[in-house]
Amino acid sequence: MLKKIDHLGIAVPNLEEARRFYEQVLGLECHGVQEVADQKVRTAFYEVGEVHLELLEPTAPDSPIAKYLEKNPAGGIHHVAFAVDNVQAELTEFEGKGVRLIDKAPRPGANNKLIGFLHPKSTLGVLTELCMDDPSKK
Ligand code: CO
Repeated sequence: MLKKIDHLGIAVPNLEEARRFYEQVLGLECHGVQEVADQKVRTAFYEVGEVHLELLEPTAPDSPIAKYLEKNPAGGIHHVAFAVDNVQAELTEFEGKGVRLIDKAPRPGANNKLIGFLHPKSTLGVLTELCMDDPSKK
């Protein structure tokens, strides 16, 4: 079951410029900058109510975010992430319903999360992430 929207992943060409907008214009407080080697991104996190924003800047030309920015040079909403209790169980369930998966098994995300992506070709063009706290990181 999808419990809530955990975060929106927002692709940005330049994290420092993006941070200036989110912090000085929108007035949000950054609560962490982190590099996620597995996804070849640098991220900055914000919190708006219960929803987090995750700004994503590519750290390598073959980063998924670099590919997104080739098509959307100004940046944009890259993915929607839903909180679930068990990423593996949800991936298995959605695959059983015919959804194409990017991840057959959960992998580490930022902030000690386990994450798994559904393929946008199966989700009406919206790259969809499932995430949960990594039980091994508590
Ligand atoms: Co995410």
